[in-house]
Amino acid sequence: MHMMKAIVQSGYGGPEVLTLREMPVPQPQAGELLVKVSAIALNYANKLLREGVFPAPAPLPAIMLAEVEGIVVSAGAGVEGFRTGQRVTGVSVQGFAEYAVLHTSQAFLLPDHLQAGQGMLSGGITAHHLLAQVPGSISSVLITGAAGVIGSFAMQLARLQGIPLIGAVTGSSDKSGYVQKLGATVAVSRGEEDWLQQLAAAAPEGYALLLDAGGGPAASQLLPLLAPGGTAVLYGNMSGKPVEADGNLMAFRGLRIVGASVFAANPADKLRWHNEMVQAVLSGKLEVPVNAFAFDDFGEAFAALESRQIQGRIVLQTA
Ligand SMILES: NC(=O)c1ccc[n+]([C@@H]2O[C@H](COP(=O)([O-])OP(=O)(O)OC[C@H]3O[C@@H](n4cnc5c(N)ncnc54)[C@H](OP(=O)(O)O)[C@@H]3O)[C@@H](O)[C@H]2O)c1
Repeated sequence: MHMMKAIVQSGYGGPEVLTLREMPVPQPQAGELLVKVSAIALNYANKLLREGVFPAPAPLPAIMLAEVEGIVVSAGAGVEGFRTGQRVTGVSVQGFAEYAVLHTSQAFLLPDHLQAGQGMLSGGITAHHLLAQVPGSISSVLITGAAGVIGSFAMQLARLQGIPLIGAVTGSSDKSGYVQKLGATVAVSRGEEDWLQQLAAAAPEGYALLLDAGGGPAASQLLPLLAPGGTAVLYGNMSGKPVEADGNLMAFRGLRIVGASVFAANPADKLRWHNEMVQAVLSGKLEVPVNAFAFDDFGEAFAALESRQIQGRIVLQTA
């Protein structure tokens, strides 16, 4: 039996529930690809999975779910549109390993010449889905957690879509240069005393759209910055605290608060967004800033994720 290194989750909790183990290389079933993994994205969802905020998709102990990039080494019965040797990416239910099974419905093709670690674009697909919550052209957008994975994609996609006013909120001012480089036209840190006034001054008519996954008081304070008819898209709750909305403000301004999950996105849209983003990465219009860690250093990678200091994404390299 061929063996591989894998990160196995034994329960819910802190870093202690994850261990590096030797596990058998899985066999692809009907409709599945076996991928030799070259890179694994560490997303915030992995922290939520580890803690049990999101239940594990397989009974524990199990290899943790992950977004991966790699080469197809074999395929199960009935696979069409993919073949051995192709480079692919996607979310694998048990992806935190040197080999992972990927269902073809979750797999996207990648060109060979894309730089390693640049093909994992699920955060960009999510950002596209969030921006699509408002039909037609958008005059202004306010993005919190702007230096994070989804924030970094959302700012760049907003720029590529021609949105003229892009407000970025971060937790510390040392991230301002980074978010401005990616497309923010105004960047503020919540550490600045007048951060709300700065955001308001930059958009005298208010923001048409707010994208937030932080929740809590910080998000609640941003609702009054929305323009009449504006939309707040809440797509996560990293603070663990609810967003509070004043009914009078909601009514008089005709605001909307909506939730959005990429799981509800149309598969054809997701494929189109993926392919467009690959072209944009190749032509240098879209950056995928990577903070690389060795596979065995997954503990340090999780610590970096939880430090909130990272700009861009965290990638584990298997070779
Ligand atoms: N709805 C969907 O379809 C969907 C899909 C994927 C992910 N998500 C959610 O999107 C969110 C962001 O994911 P990501 O991969 O972009 O994460 P990320 O890169 O780790 O973090 C984004 C930013 O959020 C801020 N943050 C971190 N911890 C926080 C906390 N406890 N409270 C408030 N802000 C915090 C940090 O920025 P500052 O410290 O600079 O503020 C961080 O840079 C997560 O909640 C994830 O579950 C939703």
